[in-house]
Amino acid sequence: MSKITEVKQRLDIVELVSEYATLQKAGRNFKGLCPFHSEKHASFYVFPEQQSWHCFGACGTGGDVFSFVMKKESIDFGQALRLLAQRSGITLGPPEAPSKAEDEKKEKLFQINEAATEYYRHLLSSAKAGEVARSYLAKRKVMPETVKEFRLGFSPDAWETIKNYLLGRGYTEKELVEAGLTVEKEEGGSYDRFRNRLLFPICDIQGRVTGFGARVLDDSLPKYINSPQTPIFDKSSSLYGIDKAKSAIRKKNLIIIVEGYMDVLTAHQHGWQNVVGSMGTSLTEKQVEGMKRLTNNITLALDADLAGEEATLRGKAILAYSNAEANVILLPPGKDPDEVVKEEPALWQKLVEEALPIMDFAFKSVISKVDMNKARDKSLAVQKLLPSIYEIKDPVQQSHYLKKLARELKIEESAIRTALRESKVGPKKSQPGKPAGQSRLARQLVSSPIEERCLALLLQFPELRPLAQELSPEHFESTENREVFLAWQHSADGSNLEGKLDTSLLEHLYYLVKKNFPPAIRESERTRQRDLAQCIRRLQEKLCRRLELEKEATLEIEREKGGVGSELSKLEEQGIESGQKLQEVFIKKERNHGFN
Ligand code: UTP
Ligand code: MN
Repeated sequence: MSKITEVKQRLDIVELVSEYATLQKAGRNFKGLCPFHSEKHASFYVFPEQQSWHCFGACGTGGDVFSFVMKKESIDFGQALRLLAQRSGITLGPPEAPSKAEDEKKEKLFQINEAATEYYRHLLSSAKAGEVARSYLAKRKVMPETVKEFRLGFSPDAWETIKNYLLGRGYTEKELVEAGLTVEKEEGGSYDRFRNRLLFPICDIQGRVTGFGARVLDDSLPKYINSPQTPIFDKSSSLYGIDKAKSAIRKKNLIIIVEGYMDVLTAHQHGWQNVVGSMGTSLTEKQVEGMKRLTNNITLALDADLAGEEATLRGKAILAYSNAEANVILLPPGKDPDEVVKEEPALWQKLVEEALPIMDFAFKSVISKVDMNKARDKSLAVQKLLPSIYEIKDPVQQSHYLKKLARELKIEESAIRTALRESKVGPKKSQPGKPAGQSRLARQLVSSPIEERCLALLLQFPELRPLAQELSPEHFESTENREVFLAWQHSADGSNLEGKLDTSLLEHLYYLVKKNFPPAIRESERTRQRDLAQCIRRLQEKLCRRLELEKEATLEIEREKGGVGSELSKLEEQGIESGQKLQEVFIKKERNHGFN
């Protein structure tokens, strides 16, 4: 998670704004006199659900926690980030590279792992003790080329093999413990962690060995043990095989995720080089972040028995953490990808081709269990699916699934929409320093694919600039995107954006600059222009919808109170009825006043 997201997640906009302005509860929202201009009637609104604010008066602009303090304190984004980070108890760390000592330590650990990998590999290929492991691999039909490519190894059934070897190479006992290759004894001393096991070196995307997975050669338990957490190994952010899979993932623009080490080996051996292993845990945010740099198309191979629950859960993680297009393959009962790829390659091919979008899959698995005669079943199904539908940011897609749910359960769509509204809980006071509720977190983490596509086009194809005149910072809901857009907007030719952006935004900038476009876009200026126009249209629609919702909320409150707020009624008098018009006014105002 980026520091920016982390900060947003910890802060509550209502609390923050309350320090600068007196807010009153107004329905689900809050309102008060605008802290940016002087006024008699409150036209400044804070929307806790969106974690946003908007001044419907003279400012005619709005934003999130960052833009609020930037405007209020007249500071730039980097300063705002530091201020808010401090407030929420998050250490940003120096923007410079990690200390030299830390780098050297990591470098040493990589060296140790490399030496261990070579040694284990040697024992597997040549040692007498490796015979059992060699025949085990043969039995599982792992070919010598695969063993070589993945640098598999063997740790003999002894307590001090790797330890003595590496001590002999000049490493210290402490370093070996730190690398996770040996285990410290309470009474002092240490012994080999991996004994009588087949070794799977786990690499980072650059192919450096970060840790190991180790399998027994029989049915004893635990079947696998893995390296502990070390300065260079974190299981929850590793993907087994990513270094060998990355070019195929880029080429095919698809990553296939399986669970096990063996599944990855077999897949690669059968020509499925774009397969990586999640190593048995459900996919984490860090893993998704890593793969997002390679492709936006993710296909998960799920066990038949777990699939129903998992699909909804994991789908949520993916929807919430990325803009990835997630699909699901359901494996035949009792089989894992290793077996399917090996025994029924044609079936595997078909499963990959026919992978279902994760939401469709969740629908299928939930709805197949519903007895259409039972009202209770139907409401349970709605309860199960609604949280995932709620996470869908794209309003068109969300509406698609709401309609689908109504159709498939044969109930009124309005009933589901009511349930959806009710599931949107009112403002919860977040405790400072504690992460906020899940739905808010998820909403803030969802990045908008349209925003990113639009920005990536503008950054990569400078000739498109004149076509983006209509865009304003308010079109970008994500803080990172908005900041990058502002920097781009303010630089005459879009060059040297690095110099204009806070270092915390550079990673996002590079991601956008490197974002891959299909050949049609890369090669045809006409196609690019059309694509950009479409992105802008979608952003306009989204902004209108957002403004419309905010306007509705504020009008509703005024109506309840029996009078219409003066600033708003002025807007109404000016004949501003549609979101489109409203938005035009905002954008004009923004141009006149500048964003800050
Ligand atoms: P599986 O039990 O499906 O193993 O666990 P597998 O990869 O299919 O192995 P084989 O075919 O029995 O040899 C899936 C993954 O979960 C992790 C490992 O990464 C494993 O590959 N796992 C499993 C562990 O870390 N520890 C365990 O005890 C079991
Ligand atoms: Mn298996």
